[in-house]
Amino acid sequence: MARVVIKTENMSFHYPDGTSALRDINLEILEGERAAIIGSNGAGKSTLFSHFNGILRPTTGQIMINGEAASYKKEGLIKIRQTVGMVFQNPDDQLFSPTVEEDVAFGPMNLGLPDEEVEKRVEESLEAVGMNGSEKKAPHHLSGGQKKRVAIAGILAMKPDIMVLDEPTTGLDPHGVEQVMNILYNLNQDRNMSIIISSHDVEMVTEFATKIFVLHEGQIIHQGTPEDIFNNPETIKKARLKQPTAAALLHRLKANGMSVGVKLTVEEAYHEILHGMGEESYHKLLHMVKDQCHHKLLHTLGKEKYHEMLHILEEERKNSLIEKRIRDKQAYK
Ligand SMILES: Nc1ncnc2c1ncn2[C@@H]1O[C@H](COP(=O)(O)OP(=O)(O)OP(=O)(O)O)[C@@H](O)[C@H]1O
Ligand SMILES: [Mg+2]
Repeated sequence: MARVVIKTENMSFHYPDGTSALRDINLEILEGERAAIIGSNGAGKSTLFSHFNGILRPTTGQIMINGEAASYKKEGLIKIRQTVGMVFQNPDDQLFSPTVEEDVAFGPMNLGLPDEEVEKRVEESLEAVGMNGSEKKAPHHLSGGQKKRVAIAGILAMKPDIMVLDEPTTGLDPHGVEQVMNILYNLNQDRNMSIIISSHDVEMVTEFATKIFVLHEGQIIHQGTPEDIFNNPETIKKARLKQPTAAALLHRLKANGMSVGVKLTVEEAYHEILHGMGEESYHKLLHMVKDQCHHKLLHTLGKEKYHEMLHILEEERKNSLIEKRIRDKQAYK
């Protein structure tokens, strides 16, 4: 059973002006987990994230990090920030040094590490996010996606156990989203790093997270696997979010009598729909796809799956020819 790395107990937070931004938050994040907090604008995501690394202190309740109640004294805060690396919603809030390498070096230098170790960490971290070669650039001259990657490198250089990223993909183009999410996925897989992101991009979250929390008006109104969450349209509506497009389409087909289960990704939905069409139409469609749009299919499925599919198709064709011959023979007899 994986260890609990972050746990909040009845955590609530009021801003000084009286705004009640978090109410009775109880959540647990396990070691090596990829978690997502989803919620609409103003739901409380950034407020919650600021609690994960001690920027904000709960008004009531508490947060435990690696089994210890957070301490807000100087040493306690240093310990929290070494354990939990936070990437802010806006990279301009995070990057302030004249060059990229100085920015990434800032955290490890503050830890008092020797120069060689700092240099090594800067190099490794920039490489992990594909930003090596930009060491001497000014952070404010970088594009939004590049800034985001440098901000991630700055946190990586601290070697935290847990990374929390507030809306890591906002403002990025599809390629930028894929790059950042791949970096996070690899950190999780290669270093067993626990990663928590916030977002309202349900498509991205579905692909990335193993556990999702739905935050609405400062409260967690639902938690579970992506399947649990998106098979519950009422909660999604209440939280002012959308179903992933693939799930919404399958819900509609199901409501109209087609025999399909609700899947969350386009890839799974594609196969579900083909199967739902029935064996005969499915094979007809596969033939059509083979003859008319195999280039498109090749791109979508990837070479290996495409050939696997063609092979299945060919086998099916052979089998049905054999069956036909047997039937013809029997009829002849
Ligand atoms: N410094 C502050 N003082 C008072 N109220 C605040 C402050 N910061 C945030 N709030 C309020 O707290 C609530 C939660 O805000 P928060 O920024 O955590 O939401 P969010 O889910 O991150 O939204 P977004 O998707 O827009 O980033 C909102 O009602 C907001 O107006
Ligand atoms: Mg926010």
